[in-house]
Amino acid sequence: MTAAFASDDALRPGEVAVELPAAPDAGLYFIGAIRTPWRTRAECPKRGSADGPVCRLEIDPRFAQALAGVAEHPRLQVLYWMHQARRDLVLQTPHRTGITTGTFALRSPVRPNPIASSIAEVVGVEGNAVLVRGLDCLDGTPLLDLKPDRRTD
Ligand SMILES: C[S@@+](CC[C@H](N)C(=O)[O-])C[C@H]1O[C@@H](n2cnc3c(N)ncnc32)[C@H](O)[C@@H]1O
Repeated sequence: MTAAFASDDALRPGEVAVELPAAPDAGLYFIGAIRTPWRTRAECPKRGSADGPVCRLEIDPRFAQALAGVAEHPRLQVLYWMHQARRDLVLQTPHRTGITTGTFALRSPVRPNPIASSIAEVVGVEGNAVLVRGLDCLDGTPLLDLKPDRRTD
């Protein structure tokens, strides 16, 4: 095990953890942070909804020019980094189902690369911030990327 995890991340029946590689294969840049109303994982919705609360995607000023044109899109694919998730489980037993399942068959935040994605409704752009509905993450979750949702443009 290469990382320390919170005690509430104890293994459930059927779950299997593996040794993670000694070093990552690539690096990434957080482009900002997501401001949401949720302070604990238990408070977060399991998936975002178009009638959920407005959340703020606060973009690092260094990358702010990359927002040009974003307001023209009704929906964005938002990619974010589930920074509080353990990364070493290959089999998981979600509390909701109790069925042990492979990590790659789940949308759990617990995965080798804890990348989450949601399609969010764009409410507006205010300076360096994009206001959206449809997220499901903790306040302060690092933001990885934004892309227009081409499925419905
Ligand atoms: C099931 S995931 C779905 C994420 C995304 N919509 C997806 O499908 O990729 C959402 C859950 O992740 C957990 N979560 C939210 N923010 C997190 C964070 N920053 N670190 C770890 N877990 C988080 C919460 O329990 C939340 O209900």
